[in-house]
Amino acid sequence: MSNAMWGGRFANGPDAIMEEINASIGFDQRLAAQDIRGSKAHAAMLAATGIISHEDAAAIQHGLTRIAGEIEAGTFTFKRELEDIHMNVEARLAEIIGEAAGRLHTARSRNDQVALDFRLWVRDTVDQLDVGLRDLQTALVEKAFSHAEAVMPGFTHLQSAQPVTLGHHLLAYVEMLGRDRGRMRDARTRMNECPLGAAALAGTSFPVDRHKVAVDLGFDGPTRNSLDTVADRDFALEVLSAASICAMHLSRFAEEIVLWATPQFGFAALSDKFSTGSSIMPQKRNPDAAELVRGKTGRIIGALTGLFIVMKGLPLAYSKDMQEDKEGTFDALDSLVLMIAATAGMVRDLKPDLKRMEAAAGSGYATATDLADWLVRVLGLPFRQAHHVTGRIVAAASERDMTLEELPIEAMQAIEPGITNAVYDVLGVRRSVASRTSFGGTAPANVRAQAETWLKRLVAE
Ligand code: ARG
Repeated sequence: MSNAMWGGRFANGPDAIMEEINASIGFDQRLAAQDIRGSKAHAAMLAATGIISHEDAAAIQHGLTRIAGEIEAGTFTFKRELEDIHMNVEARLAEIIGEAAGRLHTARSRNDQVALDFRLWVRDTVDQLDVGLRDLQTALVEKAFSHAEAVMPGFTHLQSAQPVTLGHHLLAYVEMLGRDRGRMRDARTRMNECPLGAAALAGTSFPVDRHKVAVDLGFDGPTRNSLDTVADRDFALEVLSAASICAMHLSRFAEEIVLWATPQFGFAALSDKFSTGSSIMPQKRNPDAAELVRGKTGRIIGALTGLFIVMKGLPLAYSKDMQEDKEGTFDALDSLVLMIAATAGMVRDLKPDLKRMEAAAGSGYATATDLADWLVRVLGLPFRQAHHVTGRIVAAASERDMTLEELPIEAMQAIEPGITNAVYDVLGVRRSVASRTSFGGTAPANVRAQAETWLKRLVAE
């Protein structure tokens, strides 16, 4: 049998393999709620403009509400021979209300319909992501506030560089996530134009009111070019780009949690709730949640790359290739929602070992810059010379297997005679962090102030 929706010019139905490669209902049934929302707005506009009768529109609304209920209750039967969510809903509508169902598709094509549904789904998910990211930021800021004074090593090249505070380190991620939210918000603003009315590609001859539909569906207005509307998926690419950057941030943090949780670092313990054991090695506590956050980042970047490759060779306007836009996007954004929630859980439960962090902060001559700065400030040496002198002092301490604080004054004076006992004041890690008061620096006072500013912002948002 030929297809009930488009089979007029066909004598035969599709090959079984054709049906299999063509059907998208297996995954686009996720768009059911958006599809029904869009159809209701479209039907209301068709009645308001006199394109269909109010009776038909009322029957359509009633039927669509019933279908939404069936889908929610799990009693709706999705049929593969009906290809996609759009035709599944419409065919069921015909079963429920009869002939009037056939009027719903007036002045519409599946091309603008799918552009709408997918856009609505992405927009809904962006809103959901914003809520999750805000919660994660809140978890990080609260942790940062309570550890504003906790000293830990700051690294460059993963080598001890200068002491920082744990609060400062956590707030670095709050900043990154703030920009991630900004990117999502920007994408949302740009995508917030309504595709309905573009029809197949050229617009429609019916006197539709595209502005009304746009407003009904929460858009700022209708899109301006029908070809662009059905042919483009840059809204999804933009959100996947923002999602990839966000996932990359989460992945870096996850990597740090993995490192911190090793016995070798021992900076922090993950709670039982976010760790797993080994089936053979009884001593193990594995940071699986962090590893999965790091790992899932791969599929998000993969989805972005995949969609770029689908789109890059398509002539205008719609091609069926574009049906491949959905699975990767669903998977990527689902993954990101989960990663954000898992990261927030890990942050809330994370138990830093403050003693170990502070001890590590003092190792590796991390206050050498403080010594060089002291030589500049107190003895008036040019920084380059102070750097050289400090390097020799570090070498002397290293030869004796001592920290800078342990090195006797005579050993320092043998290198720079002007050095006095006052130098020891700057060699401790706490003093080091307390002195970094420049705006954006790691001093506990700064961290507390920044955390407070963020908390206020997050509550207000
Ligand atoms: N399932 C299709 C998709 O996801 C809907 C649009 C089909 N349009 C068409 N002209 N065949 O892209």
